Amino acid sequence: MRGLLLRLHLALLAALLTGLLDPALATRRDFPHEPGKKFCYELPVDRNRRYLLRPTFFYGASSPPPPVFDLIVDGTFWTAVNTTDDVLAGSASYYEAVFGASGRNMSFCLGVNPDYTSAGPFINALQVIQLHDSVYNATNFTASAMGLIARTKFGSTDDVERYPNDTFNRYWQPFPDSKHAVSSTHNVTSADFWNLPPPGVFNTALVAEQDAPLVLQWPPIPLQNDSYYVALYFADTVSESSRTFNVYINDYSFYEGLTVTSAGLSVFATQWNLSGLTRVILAPVSGLPPLINAGEVFGLFPLGGYTFPRDARALEAIKRSLQNIPDDWNGDPCMPHGYAWTGVTCDKGQIPRVISLNFSSMGLSGYLSSDIARLTALTDISFANNSLSGPIPNLSNLRNLTRLHLQDNKLNGTVPQTLGIITSLRELFLQNNELDGAVPLNLLLNQGLTYQFLPGNNFFPRPPR
Ligand SMILES: *[C@@H]1O[C@H](CO)[C@@H](O)[C@H](O)[C@H]1NC(C)=O
Ligand SMILES: *[C@@H]1O[C@H](CO)[C@@H](O)[C@H](O)[C@H]1NC(C)=O
Ligand SMILES: *[C@@H]1O[C@H](CO)[C@@H](O)[C@H](O)[C@H]1NC(C)=O
Ligand SMILES: *[C@@H]1O[C@H](CO)[C@@H](O)[C@H](O)[C@H]1NC(C)=O
Ligand SMILES: *[C@@H]1O[C@H](CO)[C@@H](O)[C@H](O)[C@H]1NC(C)=O
Ligand SMILES: *[C@@H]1O[C@H](CO)[C@@H](O)[C@H](O)[C@H]1NC(C)=O
Ligand SMILES: *[C@@H]1O[C@H](CO)[C@@H](O)[C@H](O)[C@H]1NC(C)=O
Ligand SMILES: *[C@@H]1O[C@H](CO)[C@@H](O)[C@H](O)[C@H]1NC(C)=O
Ligand SMILES: *[C@@H]1O[C@H](CO)[C@@H](O)[C@H](O)[C@H]1NC(C)=O
Ligand SMILES: *[C@@H]1O[C@H](CO)[C@@H](O)[C@H](O)[C@H]1NC(C)=O
Ligand SMILES: *[C@@H]1O[C@H](CO)[C@@H](O)[C@H](O)[C@H]1NC(C)=O
Ligand SMILES: *[C@@H]1O[C@H](CO)[C@@H](O)[C@H](O)[C@H]1NC(C)=O
Repeated sequence: MRGLLLRLHLALLAALLTGLLDPALATRRDFPHEPGKKFCYELPVDRNRRYLLRPTFFYGASSPPPPVFDLIVDGTFWTAVNTTDDVLAGSASYYEAVFGASGRNMSFCLGVNPDYTSAGPFINALQVIQLHDSVYNATNFTASAMGLIARTKFGSTDDVERYPNDTFNRYWQPFPDSKHAVSSTHNVTSADFWNLPPPGVFNTALVAEQDAPLVLQWPPIPLQNDSYYVALYFADTVSESSRTFNVYINDYSFYEGLTVTSAGLSVFATQWNLSGLTRVILAPVSGLPPLINAGEVFGLFPLGGYTFPRDARALEAIKRSLQNIPDDWNGDPCMPHGYAWTGVTCDKGQIPRVISLNFSSMGLSGYLSSDIARLTALTDISFANNSLSGPIPNLSNLRNLTRLHLQDNKLNGTVPQTLGIITSLRELFLQNNELDGAVPLNLLLNQGLTYQFLPGNNFFPRPPR
């Protein structure tokens, strides 16, 4: 029975790699192709903790070629998803990155980039794993995120090592090399290691031949010229012995005189320049020949920033006051650039401000939230041609507002006197609503203002046209 279960388990793991049988890959969610829109999942998170995100994509049919699209987390562009080659090989594609949480939600989004393909994004599975605070703690997650390039268990021909062997379900890929591979049973306490690698990765190793350096081409893919996070993990296979060696990466010294014992250790660099193919060289100094058990390489990418928080909160409140809203009003309202909410325009500042709301002809109903007045950088507002009802709120905080288009709705009540004290206002369109009372004199007397109050509305006395 135990043997059968084990075989089934292995079959599932193998299927994950080929993308054929894993139940998570049997279903796919498709999103529409609407250029510049992002479709988001809001993930509840603990502020200041860090999370491993691993979406999996498996389009199935290789014809037509699968859609290509962007991944976005909060305000940050993560990567483009192109599964074309994997689909041709019959396998699923997974992407993995580690992000710090900045608030109570983290948004994970699929972005429709019109430069790529003419079909909308899709996704099959998303894993979200909270990491222990000590894992990858040398990275400043308020400045950057880490995208996985390779996570390798050297000398192994087994299956991918993952949960439950790895508490955080990180995937450690085998890296066979029959000439140098050794395996052993280890008693390493991995809790003593930086980044908490699973103990199993220390049961296999690549060991150099006597008096010769061990040369690896790893990671196995060429890298673009950039700065990377590199961590290497070592533990001696023979207890009570030790070995000392130098570690070079692309002929630069990564670590001199590293002494590895059976207790093990890890060494890492948070920013290491790599370009093209990478060579890792372990050159013997003394004792037994050099060896290596595991390694990880991540690309580091800067966080894209967030909308000015008061503006983001005001937009959330405005969103709650409306019905029939666009399906992309999720995630950060302004960021990344090119992926603002439909109808929202932001400036290009370090901390972007909302400068325009153009929600005309969107089929919205609901009311005009007084929170609009908290978007103090606004210059343009249009809610024209919707089905909004209720009063016009006090917008006198909007000192830069030049255009206010509220025509063709069902707004009622009176025109607020406070509109007249917005000295920047140049265009005011209120026709075709259910407003009444008298139009305030300070508006009618404003020489610089182009206004339209009629037709529609029940003003008394009737304002000039
Ligand atoms: C977090 O996401 C949930 C679900 O989408 C939403 O109801 C809630 O308002 C969000 N909270 C914050 C602080 O954005
Ligand atoms: C996706 O990858 C395939 C194969 O590598 C390539 O031919 C294609 O141009 C890529 N598509 C985009 C939009 O980058
Ligand atoms: C990271 O975690 C390790 C324990 O695994 C600890 O020794 C180290 O001081 C931590 N470093 C930072 C920068 O927090
Ligand atoms: C992390 O990055 C942020 C933003 O760049 C910076 O303000 C902060 O000082 C950095 N923290 C550390 C510990 O370097
Ligand atoms: C996971 O750990 C168990 C027990 O240590 C071991 O038998 C198994 O081979 C490991 N799995 C992999 C894929 O390394
Ligand atoms: C591992 O630990 C167990 C018990 O702690 C011990 O019996 C065994 O000899 C150890 N194995 C090695 C290879 O040190
Ligand atoms: C990588 O880019 C830097 C500039 O960003 C340049 O100085 C360096 O020569 C490049 N390295 C390689 C190997 O192309
Ligand atoms: C890595 O590259 C950056 C930018 O090209 C450069 O400023 C830095 O000095 C390089 N670091 C090393 C260790 O070569
Ligand atoms: C607002 O959006 C509508 C439709 O998308 C467009 O026709 C109109 O020109 C926009 N108005 C402004 C002021 O940008
Ligand atoms: C008003 O909005 C509707 C959609 O809600 C649209 O069909 C119609 O063309 C719009 N009218 C004008 C004059 O823009
Ligand atoms: C209002 O406009 C002025 C001039 O363009 C600008 O300096 C100021 O920053 C704007 N105010 C806000 C709150 O954006
Ligand atoms: C505006 O219309 C709503 C119903 O849509 C009504 O409840 C409210 O009393 C009206 N307000 C005024 C000032 O007429």
